[in-house]
Amino acid sequence: MRVFVTGASGHIGSALIPELLAAGHQVVGLARSDAAAAAVAERGAEAHRGDATDPDSFLDAVAAADGVVHLAYDHSFTDMAAAAAADLRTVRAIGERLAGTGKPLVATSGTLLLAFGSDGALGFEHDTRPGGSRIDVENAVVAMAAEGVRGSVVRLAPLVHSDLDHHGFAPIMIRIAREKGVAAYVGDGTNRWPAVNTRDAARLYRLALESAPGGTRLHAVEGEGVPLRTIAETIAQRLGIPAVSIEPEQADEHFGFLGPLVQLDNPTSAEATRKLLDWKPEHPDLIADLEAGHYFRTQD
Ligand SMILES: NC(=O)c1ccc[n+]([C@@H]2O[C@H](COP(=O)([O-])OP(=O)(O)OC[C@H]3O[C@@H](n4cnc5c(N)ncnc54)[C@H](OP(=O)(O)O)[C@@H]3O)[C@@H](O)[C@H]2O)c1
Repeated sequence: MRVFVTGASGHIGSALIPELLAAGHQVVGLARSDAAAAAVAERGAEAHRGDATDPDSFLDAVAAADGVVHLAYDHSFTDMAAAAAADLRTVRAIGERLAGTGKPLVATSGTLLLAFGSDGALGFEHDTRPGGSRIDVENAVVAMAAEGVRGSVVRLAPLVHSDLDHHGFAPIMIRIAREKGVAAYVGDGTNRWPAVNTRDAARLYRLALESAPGGTRLHAVEGEGVPLRTIAETIAQRLGIPAVSIEPEQADEHFGFLGPLVQLDNPTSAEATRKLLDWKPEHPDLIADLEAGHYFRTQD
C-alpha cells in the first residue's frame, strides 16, 4: 500500500514509518519544513512538502495514496480549542478527498476524553461522547464509513512512552519533578492513566490501516491504567527526590497545563481492540521504560 502519513516527522511517526516499511508498504510523509522533510527521509520515507492547516498543499498526495494515517497535531498547548478545530478541518478535508474510494483513513484521538465526567468507570471502545475536542474528529471519521471511507480512530493513552519519546507527557512530568524537587501526585494518587509503548501503538496503526472496518474506534493501551502515585514514586526514585501528595487546589500551580489532567481517573480497556486486530502489546510497559533510565539520561 502507498500510505500518506501526516505527522510523519513526529514521535509516533518515528515508529510508524519503520513499522509500515517493514510490512512492505511505501510511505509518503507530510513535512512542513526542511527539518521535517529531512526527518521523514532519514526514516526511509518520501517527504511531501505541505502544511496540515492548508489542505490544498497535500490533498493531491492523499488522492495518490492507497490509505492515510493522520498523526499531525499542534502541540504548542497555547490554544487547545484552536488546535482541535484545526485538526477537525484537516480530517474533514482528507475524508472528503477519500469519499467513495473505500480507502482507509486512520485518525487519532485520546483515551483521556473518556475520563471527563466518567467518575473512574472503565472506558471501552464503544463509549463515546456527543462532541468536544478530539471527539468531534472521532465522530467525523466514524461517520465517513457511510461516505465510502474505511475510517477508523486510534485513541492513544496519554502516556505514549519509549526511548523515542522526547516531549510527551512523561518527559514533561520528569522535567516538572526536577524543577520542583518533588514528584507529585494529587490526593491519594490512586487515579489511573493508561500507557502504551510507542512501537506497540505504531503496530496498532498499521493493523488498523490494513484491516480495521470502517467506523471502528480502537484503544492503544497496554493495560487498564497505572496509578499516578506509582508513576510519581518511580520518577522520584530515579531522581532521588521525594514523592509527595498535593491538594487539588495546588495542581495547576505545580503541573501547569497538566494540572486538570493529572487528576483524571482514566482506566481503559483494549479488549475489543485486541480481539478485532489480534493486537498484543509486546514492548516494555511504562514502569519498565521509566526504570530503564533513558528518560532520565535524555534530560541530563
Ligand atoms: N505522544 C503522546 O503521548 C500522545 C498521547 C495521546 C495522543 N497523542 C496524539 O498522537 C498524535 C501524534 O503525536 P506525536 O507524539 O507523534 O506528536 P509530535 O511528536 O508532537 O508530532 C506532531 C507532528 O505533527 C506535525 N505537525 C504539527 N502541525 C503541523 C502542520 N500544521 N502541518 C504539518 N505537520 C504538522 C509535526 O511536524 P513538525 O515536525 O514540523 O513539528 C509532527 O510531525 C497527535 O495527534 C497527538 O495529539 C499523542
